[in-house]
Amino acid sequence: MNKPLDLPILSAAQPQVGVSRSHESAHLHVSGEASYVDDIAEAQGTLHAALGLSPLAHGRLLAIDIALIKRQPGVVAVLTAADFPGENNCGPLLHDDPILAADTLSYLGQPVFAVIATDRELARRAAALAKTAIQAEPWPALLTAREAHAAGHYVIPPMHLTRGEPAQALAAAPHRLAGEWAVGGQEQFYLEGQISYALPQEDRGLLVHCSTQHPSEMQQLLAHALGWSAHQVQVQCRRMGGGFGGKESQSAVFACVAALAATKLRRPVKLRVDRDDDFMITGRRHGFDYRWQVGYDDDGHIVAAEIDLISNCGHSADLSAPVMARALCHFDNAYWLPHVAMHGYCAKTNTQSNTAFRGFGGPQGALAIEMILDSVARRLGLDPLVVRQRNFYRDGQDVTPYGQRVEDNIILPLTDRLIATSDYHARRAEITAFNAHSPVLKKGLALTPVKFGISFNVVHLNQAGALVHVYTDGSVLVNHGGTEMGQGLNTKVAQVVAHELGLSLARVRASATDTHKIANTSATAASTGSDLNGKAAQDAARKIKSRLAALAAQLLDCPEDELRFGGDQVLAGTGRSIAFTELVSKAYLERIQLWSDGFYTTPGLHWDRAKLQGKPFYYYAYGAAVSEVLVDTLTGESRVLRADALHDVGQSLNPALDIGQVEGAFVQGMGWLTTEDLVWHPKTGALLTHAPSTYKIPTANDMPADFRVALFDAPNREDSIHRSKAVGEPPLLLPFSVLLAIKDAIASTGPASCDPHLRAPATAEAVLSALDAIQPTARVG
Ligand code: MTE
Ligand code: MOS
Repeated sequence: MNKPLDLPILSAAQPQVGVSRSHESAHLHVSGEASYVDDIAEAQGTLHAALGLSPLAHGRLLAIDIALIKRQPGVVAVLTAADFPGENNCGPLLHDDPILAADTLSYLGQPVFAVIATDRELARRAAALAKTAIQAEPWPALLTAREAHAAGHYVIPPMHLTRGEPAQALAAAPHRLAGEWAVGGQEQFYLEGQISYALPQEDRGLLVHCSTQHPSEMQQLLAHALGWSAHQVQVQCRRMGGGFGGKESQSAVFACVAALAATKLRRPVKLRVDRDDDFMITGRRHGFDYRWQVGYDDDGHIVAAEIDLISNCGHSADLSAPVMARALCHFDNAYWLPHVAMHGYCAKTNTQSNTAFRGFGGPQGALAIEMILDSVARRLGLDPLVVRQRNFYRDGQDVTPYGQRVEDNIILPLTDRLIATSDYHARRAEITAFNAHSPVLKKGLALTPVKFGISFNVVHLNQAGALVHVYTDGSVLVNHGGTEMGQGLNTKVAQVVAHELGLSLARVRASATDTHKIANTSATAASTGSDLNGKAAQDAARKIKSRLAALAAQLLDCPEDELRFGGDQVLAGTGRSIAFTELVSKAYLERIQLWSDGFYTTPGLHWDRAKLQGKPFYYYAYGAAVSEVLVDTLTGESRVLRADALHDVGQSLNPALDIGQVEGAFVQGMGWLTTEDLVWHPKTGALLTHAPSTYKIPTANDMPADFRVALFDAPNREDSIHRSKAVGEPPLLLPFSVLLAIKDAIASTGPASCDPHLRAPATAEAVLSALDAIQPTARVG
């Protein structure tokens, strides 16, 4: 043993972080072996649930013809609100969200009763009789955020954030511009739909397999609904087939119904909704309406801004308050706004309750200032890029409207580099020349920046736990509170543990998220998954490492601080070494604890929720993108010819995964802003776009033809996990450049300094109406 080692300096030569590694489940994803909830072998006696949905947008529930449903083939039970032994609520923050409607119907599609049947098809057929079985008295419904705002109908009181003297500064500004605009919502369209599978356990226990970003909250809501204690309920999630925020709070209704049925009938119960029902039942990204007034000078500097942001929350609060808080904290995006007043109105409407979606209000806040700057630039006859650059936060001294200093500002060097690598100025000239000679096809170009705050806006949520087991054969299992939804969190956490213990990645395996392992976890959200859980797992690994180091120091006769863990060995300064496996088996015999918990809290955060002031973010992630589009002015169709993105992930933990996140977020954000159009029937309130036939998400064919994604490789100034930065959400803001490039192409058809009014999503119809509005006579028939 202890033979001298001929390897070079190990930990430096074989880092496990900062290197591209394929997703821990990639081989399972591509072979179809990755197990999702619906793949778990069904236990004997499993029953299937389906939901009977409200046929009205608003009304009083008078009666449900339960006998009619019960008579249907295969039906075992019909459950209603009255069946919950505990609280009939699945609202995450306010208790305003019934699991099954009790007296009031609040939106068309709301679950009213649950059918439990011997198979899924029979359950769905019986549930489809809801229209006949539900008797209700219709009430007038509020279907749009504007109507609700006009009626003062909100899910939470309005939020106001003001800095300086915006009214005076507006009055004194050399130029003023007033505008109104709106951006639509967005369906998460996770590929795996919502699903829960509840299995009764001995002595009033329950195991629930749930596709959720928030196992701990599911556990709590289930316990409340059943009138049980949390320790009776175990929620497990190996992976999701996508979450995108849609499984942060809104997995609850399905989990609660499956749990109620399973405990009442003492049988395993599965609830898997199909895509149309998923659309009809769950909420999505909030659509926003805006009204603004800005004051600016001759050079395009914004001197004052006042804006109303009105979000369409749907029938309940869900996460609408923190979504609006994040929108207000991102209206500044990368810009210094000396005098500003923002008013956030969370409109209550008779539609699905809107919720988290990648960016969590941040995109809706930042998009408003980007539209404003574009309009200001066009009115001044300047390139919008120049106006953006003039308004950038300058140095590390500038303070945001909510009181946080932008200490880590890298927006200037980052955009400068992108301008150079994308050849922005030369292409701007080429596009102008192209458009001059192309009457039908028009090109457009835009560069937009991103500054995105990382941390939960609610301080106490910024905590995480992990558990690391080293087994006597030297293999390692890591469990943490985060959930895997495709983003590669398990891979990153396993890399951190492998790096800490000096092991090859193959030795470390990540296991399913489980409320019986790590308690009281936060949602995997706000892009904080690897920041929080990576640090917690590192903490656990370090505790084990220090115990092992004490033993290795004795065995190798070397001071502990001269030991290095690397290459599956522990190496002494003298050159002697011991294999990790051997050290571990000796440690076991010495009765040294080979597993540990780990814990992490993000330092330095404070937030006054009433005043909307403090330091809500540990740091900012930055980025920018340049998009070039081609618009057909006869059909309104548009296409991205080339997109260059430069994105800041600090010192990347895994460049391959991070680039994948940037690409995915870019295309997803592009879908939101160009093709994904949600339409509710203006009278009945029925969501008409509830399937991929009518709701167009981007596909591989919509990828920019020439897509160049690069990482801005500079370490995080803060002591984040290996100086990396969160990447999940910020790049969703990069495709603002696509929308503004389309607007740029449209503007090229009008007179100099014309400012087209382009709706979002910029569908072909929206592009045509924007074109028509600038040249009403040019287009006939
Ligand atoms: N990537 C994939 N493939 N699937 C997802 O569902 N969700 C996004 C982002 N990237 C998502 C994704 C959202 S909304 C968030 S908040 C982060 O991942 C969450 O994971 P992280 O905190 O580990 O980055
Ligand atoms: Mo992401 S919207 O924070 O789940």
